[in-house]
Amino acid sequence: MGAFAWLKTWSLLIVIAAASSFDSDETSNRRNLLGNGLASTPPMGWNSWNHFNCMIDEKIIKQTADALVATGLAKLGYNYVNIDDCWAELNRDSKGVLVPKKSTFPSGMKALSDYVHTKGLKLGIYSDAGFYTCSKKMPGSLGHEEIDAKSFASWGIDYLKYDNCNNGGIRPTLRYPVMTRALINAGRPIFFSLCEWGDLHPALWGYTVGNSWRTTNDISDTWDSMISRADQNEVYADYARPGGWNDPDMLEVGNGGMSKNECIVHFSIWAISKAPLLIGCDVRNISKDTMEIIANKEVIALNQDKLGVQAKKVRMEGDWEVWSGPLSQYRIAVLLLNRGPVRTEITAHWDDIGIAPTTSVQARDLWEHKTLNTRFTGNLTATIDSHGCKLFVLKLVS
Ligand SMILES: *[C@@H]1O[C@H](CO)[C@@H](O)[C@H](O)[C@H]1NC(C)=O
Ligand SMILES: *[C@@H]1O[C@H](CO)[C@@H](O)[C@H](O)[C@H]1NC(C)=O
Repeated sequence: MGAFAWLKTWSLLIVIAAASSFDSDETSNRRNLLGNGLASTPPMGWNSWNHFNCMIDEKIIKQTADALVATGLAKLGYNYVNIDDCWAELNRDSKGVLVPKKSTFPSGMKALSDYVHTKGLKLGIYSDAGFYTCSKKMPGSLGHEEIDAKSFASWGIDYLKYDNCNNGGIRPTLRYPVMTRALINAGRPIFFSLCEWGDLHPALWGYTVGNSWRTTNDISDTWDSMISRADQNEVYADYARPGGWNDPDMLEVGNGGMSKNECIVHFSIWAISKAPLLIGCDVRNISKDTMEIIANKEVIALNQDKLGVQAKKVRMEGDWEVWSGPLSQYRIAVLLLNRGPVRTEITAHWDDIGIAPTTSVQARDLWEHKTLNTRFTGNLTATIDSHGCKLFVLKLVS
């Protein structure tokens, strides 16, 4: 057996041993083992993948940090600046440490995190629970969890997105908890984002392992892709809570593939679903329409509500749906969604959203920024455009 094959087998044995001891004594209880105190509300920030794919460098990351501050998005809570795949050299150094790509990240990650931190922001990085990342342009962390977690901590990294490619067919429940352990041992609070694509129902075990878990395959910049990820993610609503969130993937708002109405639907569903709000467009060159959507303070506040309960579909009739969920201070979030090709009237009935039949409510329209004059009793009805929605917060008045 060659040295490399031997090393691989040996690392695998360590991985499996570590994971199975973890599995037996601790996965069974429902604590977030990371105990990093993060994710009391869904994370907000930016990630390089949806717009830039592999075409990233330290200049883009710094300029994005600058732009988050200059646009006011940082002040609204978008504070993670997350580097996705393709940031490292294909080979580790002689000590086995990941090496930032010399041609694109010449200053190294510590310098970059220092820069981002001086802006009051946090730096995120990417690795993979496999032998190579998805691009195959850099190594994965499988079998190197301890050394990589230590590198991330020593570089001042605040967030780790951990992908699922080239994993040798080993179950995710054996691979991901090893990194959890390594992050704990590294001693720095690092948000742990499991990018397991929903393969093995990560909602059922993710809370004991990380701070968020992808429930779906990658999103792309189309209505069908976006809405189907919303659907797949909704199924797991009961498993999201402060400390650990369902993740239907990053935002495509501002990337040009969807109409403004569709982007409003996208952002509304992500907000009411307590999904991570990770901007996926080029923040350095952002349009007024895109800003109007992602900088809507009322919709952000709905996402960041401290009760932390993910909304569910409470009624589906043909092309239309009502999504609803409770908020703090006895308020209720309601989304009226028209998935069909024609304008239609949609009704949220009180018995669908958990309000007593005779109760009157005040309704705040989060996209019109208006509290409606009418007090509603029994139902709330509105006419909704094709691929459009309305998003309300209801307050009980009597
Ligand atoms: C900025 O965005 C516009 C579309 O909103 C696009 O046409 C233009 O090419 C972008 N500029 C750069 C430098 O990316
Ligand atoms: C909604 O409630 C109003 C009065 O409270 C009632 O007149 C109307 O029929 C209801 N609409 C639906 C669709 O149930």
